[in-house]
Amino acid sequence: MVNGDSVVARWRDSFTLKSEGTASDGADLCSGGMVPREMQRGIKKINKPIPTPGPTQVVVKLSAASLNFRDLLIAIGGPYPGNHVPGLILAADGAGSIFLAGSESSWRGKEGTAVVLHPNEWLSGDVRNLEMSKILGGYSLDGTLQQFVLVNDTLAIPAPKGMTGAQAASLPTAGVTAWSAIREALDARFDGVVDAWKGKWTDRRLEGKYVLTQGTGGVSCFAIQIASALGATVISTSSSDAKLAIVKQLGARHVINYRTTPDWDQDVLRLTEGKGVDHVVEVGGAATIQKSVNCTRKGGLVSVIGVLSEADVLPPEFVPAVLFGGKIVKGCVAFSREATAEFCEFAEAHSLQPLIAQTFEFDETVEAFETLQKQNAVGKLVVKISE
Ligand SMILES: NC(=O)c1ccc[n+]([C@@H]2O[C@H](COP(=O)([O-])OP(=O)(O)OC[C@H]3O[C@@H](n4cnc5c(N)ncnc54)[C@H](OP(=O)(O)O)[C@@H]3O)[C@@H](O)[C@H]2O)c1
Repeated sequence: MVNGDSVVARWRDSFTLKSEGTASDGADLCSGGMVPREMQRGIKKINKPIPTPGPTQVVVKLSAASLNFRDLLIAIGGPYPGNHVPGLILAADGAGSIFLAGSESSWRGKEGTAVVLHPNEWLSGDVRNLEMSKILGGYSLDGTLQQFVLVNDTLAIPAPKGMTGAQAASLPTAGVTAWSAIREALDARFDGVVDAWKGKWTDRRLEGKYVLTQGTGGVSCFAIQIASALGATVISTSSSDAKLAIVKQLGARHVINYRTTPDWDQDVLRLTEGKGVDHVVEVGGAATIQKSVNCTRKGGLVSVIGVLSEADVLPPEFVPAVLFGGKIVKGCVAFSREATAEFCEFAEAHSLQPLIAQTFEFDETVEAFETLQKQNAVGKLVVKISE
């Protein structure tokens, strides 16, 4: 048993991100200062012993965690499925290095290796192997906003060489979700199984294809980078011209502001000579799904990933548009360990630079959640945990 300090962020029922705060609200729980009192009650820093790994477990010393909207929804009791226990350590995504390896662990003797954590117990096979209760930072499974995390050794994956801890931490949920959506389209295999990669990582397997992305969140930024690295022509939408300028640098060929161009589906059709795109990486939800289907080519794919907007009813044109266009509307939820390992290799082969919108110190975790809630950032929000 190794003794040492560990720092965790926890939430309680009182957690709220709604109130405004000032520095004078006090800084006794979160030493970062500018923290509203209600949030201080909800997130706090504690010490706990470094865990001891079982035979096939490892303790990973985390250098960074990255946040996803799911973490915020779990924190505030928002619309995210599951029975999440009070006092949970939040966040699914993290990267660091192997600190301790169990007696029979495949990481034995490789302590210090930089790793990314695969955040769930779906190792291989199809989506039926995903258990929502076994995603880090949900239900009763503590997440990555801590210095030392104990996991089964299969969840640690070598980090792409050349990436910082912050960049590596940003990969799993946003990056591998985008990767999986594009990946299953490549193999026309829609059950979540990852077949052996055909050819080299650098082959341009999407040459001549159109991919549409929506907004400039984490998933979409990765989707732009992945699809353009594979040779696709990427069309991206956003609420803001300033954000569109950024996604152009990530590889988007055409950009559309969906605020100033509400009928953006028509623009997409125009850009694709009336045919529509081959693949939509759909994150908008109810506000975008009809338009996404409208501007998908016959037999094309709409990967339903996100629910950034809601509505009570689907437009009546939805079913006819899917049916008579022979289009595939496919739900994408999480990803297997095989997909995470693949994406790390792909990212290394392409020297992919994940777009980090902002990095926060550990004591600024509450500010990181506030920033996430504002939805202004382009790319990922990362919390630095250790050097
Ligand atoms: N299925 C899965 O396994 C999985 C995995 C990860 C994430 N998700 C879900 O996917 C969605 C995106 O995740 P994320 O991490 O990329 O989120 P994020 O980083 O929080 O993305 C937020 C961005 O989305 C854009 N947006 C918001 N409302 C929009 C709308 N109505 N139409 C188009 N764009 C809109 C905005 O960008 P602009 O201002 O540029 O428009 C906003 O800044 C979320 O719903 C998330 O829960 C699902």
